[in-house]
Amino acid sequence: MAASIFAAVPRAPPVAVFKLTADFREDGDSRKVNLGVGAYRTDEGQPWVLPVVKKVEQMIANDNSLNHEYLPILGLPEFRANASRIALGDDSPAIKENRVGSVQSLGGTGALRIGAEFLRRWYNGNNNTATPVYVSAPSWENHNSVFMDAGFKDIRTYHYWDAAKRGLDLQGLLNDMESAPEFSIFILHACAHNPTGTDPTPEQWKQIAAVMKRRSLFPFFDSAYQGFASGSLDKDAWAVRYFVSEGFELFCAQSFSKNFGLYNERVGNLTVVGKDADNVQRVLSQMEKIVRTTWSNPPSQGARIVATTLSSPQLFDEWKGNVKTMADRVLLMRSELRSRLEALGTPGTWNHITEQIGMFSFTGLNPKQVEYMIKEKHIYLMASGRINMCGLTTKNLDYVAKSIHEAVTKIQ
Ligand SMILES: Cc1ncc(COP(=O)(O)O)c(C=O)c1O
Repeated sequence: MAASIFAAVPRAPPVAVFKLTADFREDGDSRKVNLGVGAYRTDEGQPWVLPVVKKVEQMIANDNSLNHEYLPILGLPEFRANASRIALGDDSPAIKENRVGSVQSLGGTGALRIGAEFLRRWYNGNNNTATPVYVSAPSWENHNSVFMDAGFKDIRTYHYWDAAKRGLDLQGLLNDMESAPEFSIFILHACAHNPTGTDPTPEQWKQIAAVMKRRSLFPFFDSAYQGFASGSLDKDAWAVRYFVSEGFELFCAQSFSKNFGLYNERVGNLTVVGKDADNVQRVLSQMEKIVRTTWSNPPSQGARIVATTLSSPQLFDEWKGNVKTMADRVLLMRSELRSRLEALGTPGTWNHITEQIGMFSFTGLNPKQVEYMIKEKHIYLMASGRINMCGLTTKNLDYVAKSIHEAVTKIQ
């Protein structure tokens, strides 16, 4: 038999976060804890179907007027409009001026991918593979790959995390923006920065926007955690709305995976804000071409759930309550973990645990300490030291705090 035509295909390394979960599943130790997963968990350590989502799913199942015809290429119109509205705000001048468009996408990842593909084809000239794309250091690891796969050749990092002070390196960030070539693309986390849990303050965002405007840099917001950072949708959208009020043209990739708990339904939206209606319509016409050859048309179930919820004042209120339940549990776990570490006298400062926001915390544990946590304590976390606060429960808090204490005191 001839050798396989695929004989020379190298094996790609596994995706770290999914590998971690697979290792966790195989671990037979009863004390095991998974702090790696990128999803919400209840205090019982279980996934949560939001009550409002359950209710709307029933409504959809009972609605005989619905069918499984293809959606339009750009997606369900009421989903797109409502999704953009919660990103930009009810009284957004850009919406009133009819210069907002959107594309329903397969999760936030799909929104980033369609946006990246469009920018490579049409931003600042066509097929501009040489435009620098700046990603925060560190960032969600997929940012890099999504833009690379869209054809961008010059992907750079901008300063973000100051490890020594366990906070934002604002000056480093501003310096990188000052020295970036004009028209470079900057991916900005709208809120609840993954993985550091550290966001610029409104005053800092103003400084960032001022430099970006002066240097003609393009803001591509990634909004994967709206509602998760503060518990308030409006507060968490402050940065995006401020940039719009400053007259920027921008993209905002929205994910409804976390704030609706609709991870596997793949619900996302790419909001496009342009200078005028005509610009936006031309951009959307090109995005339609990209979607046609990517997934042709999007799935309906998740988009219906979100559209139905966002367009009913009563369901919308219920959803906000559900989001707050999740955000509050994260806040509680933050304060409980911090107070335990402080009570144990764990070396170092632990105020960053409560100062960071959103689902994730950058603990400051180094790779060796992480390895100790996994090998000796059966507590799974990313090599970067990032933990998902939702992996903590009232039952495992003591064990996790003691284990962090041991890791920090035993391993340097
Ligand atoms: C920063 C960031 N952007 C985008 C996404 C993608 O979300 P989705 O699952 O909706 O594609 C995630 C998910 O973890 C994320 O953390």
